[in-house]
Amino acid sequence: MKALVYNGPHDVKVKEVPDAKIERATDVLVKITSTNICGSDLHLYEGRTDMEPGRILGHENLGEVFEIGAAVDRVKVGDRVCLPFNIGCGFCENCEKGLSGFCLTCNPGIAGAAYGYAGMGPYSGGQAEYLRVPYGDYNCLILPRGSEEKENDYVMLADIFPTGYHATELAGVRPGESVVIYGAGPVGLMAAYSCIIKGAAQVMVVDTHKDRLALAQKIGAIAIDDTGPGGVERIMELTGGKGADRGCECVGYQCCNMHRQEVPNLTMNNLVATVKSAGSIGVVGVFVEEDPNAEDKLEKKGQMAFNFGAFWNKGQRMATGQANVKAYNRLLSRLIEYDKVKPSWIVSHELPLEQAPQAYEKFDKREKGWTKVVLKPGMKK
Ligand SMILES: NC(=O)c1ccc[n+]([C@@H]2O[C@H](COP(=O)([O-])OP(=O)(O)OC[C@H]3O[C@@H](n4cnc5c(N)ncnc54)[C@H](O)[C@@H]3O)[C@@H](O)[C@H]2O)c1
Ligand SMILES: [Zn+2]
Ligand SMILES: [Zn+2]
Repeated sequence: MKALVYNGPHDVKVKEVPDAKIERATDVLVKITSTNICGSDLHLYEGRTDMEPGRILGHENLGEVFEIGAAVDRVKVGDRVCLPFNIGCGFCENCEKGLSGFCLTCNPGIAGAAYGYAGMGPYSGGQAEYLRVPYGDYNCLILPRGSEEKENDYVMLADIFPTGYHATELAGVRPGESVVIYGAGPVGLMAAYSCIIKGAAQVMVVDTHKDRLALAQKIGAIAIDDTGPGGVERIMELTGGKGADRGCECVGYQCCNMHRQEVPNLTMNNLVATVKSAGSIGVVGVFVEEDPNAEDKLEKKGQMAFNFGAFWNKGQRMATGQANVKAYNRLLSRLIEYDKVKPSWIVSHELPLEQAPQAYEKFDKREKGWTKVVLKPGMKK
């Protein structure tokens, strides 16, 4: 089969590789029809993880069930399914609690497994013609009839829509509140969309990319262009000097200043400054335990100079981590089915798998208009 293989920093290629196949009786084999490139893939692409060369990328996958293992009960050949980026077993202590992002079975020694990702187990990604899905009965979200027409909406359920929603859950967003979101990438935009779905009164989105900020404005958020100094002041002004009720971090450890130089503690300290006293902060942007290729000395060890004094003094709360996609994907899928939401507004490009290398390059440079790429392995070149 054809698949997108990681060779090393800034080097990915579509190659012929051995076919994905059923390896255990509980596996499902899916023929991929849509697979997105994610901001998380860029940490790999830029060589800022210990991703092994030769591995297949892709954790935002949707397709048709092609074959099932002997112990698969619920999922049938021909079902159209969306796969959460997390791989869970369904029976460990964390999966039982709905914390599928912290499964204790699928990546022994570490809580949490995923397709095609560094440190998340040996699983191949779905930027390929076929994908092996472990514990298929647990991990497949079966899509309703007619899902073909809304494929670009449903594929957002694999990661960014539930992840944006998770940011708002971690922050505890409620109707009528004000929220500040750092990052207008796909995750930040989906967090803003989730705030609007939840009935937040004031949603402010901070970034330096005008095209992405324009999308935030289109869904009713207030764009805060942080290319000059004054982003923090603008948020304080908009919130009557108090700061927002809630804050979401949707950028992660590679966050930058207005000159696009990495300053790893910038968004976290800006959140402390712009969320009000006794407010709360949800952090879904990825932070890593070590980052040897970083320039910042603390960041190399996965540490940062965090304004803990201000955080403590303001009595703020914070929650972090991978999104437990299964906790939300079924309900968010209903919103798509009943035409209440349409997360595909974020998609800027639909391309055949063969064009993945060029798409990685453009998305990595955050070139104007490259907001979200959906790769279509079946699409003609
Ligand atoms: N927790 C999870 O389960 C989960 C899931 C998916 C993605 N992620 C992570 O979420 C983060 C965002 O993902 P994405 O796909 O939107 O990525 P992205 O890289 O496309 O977007 C990040 C955006 O942040 C902006 N940014 C950089 N520095 C900033 C700053 N100081 N202030 C405000 N904005 C700033 C960039 O300009 C960019 O538009 C990444 O770290 C990704 O790995 C986490
Ligand atoms: Zn992703
Ligand atoms: Zn588990």
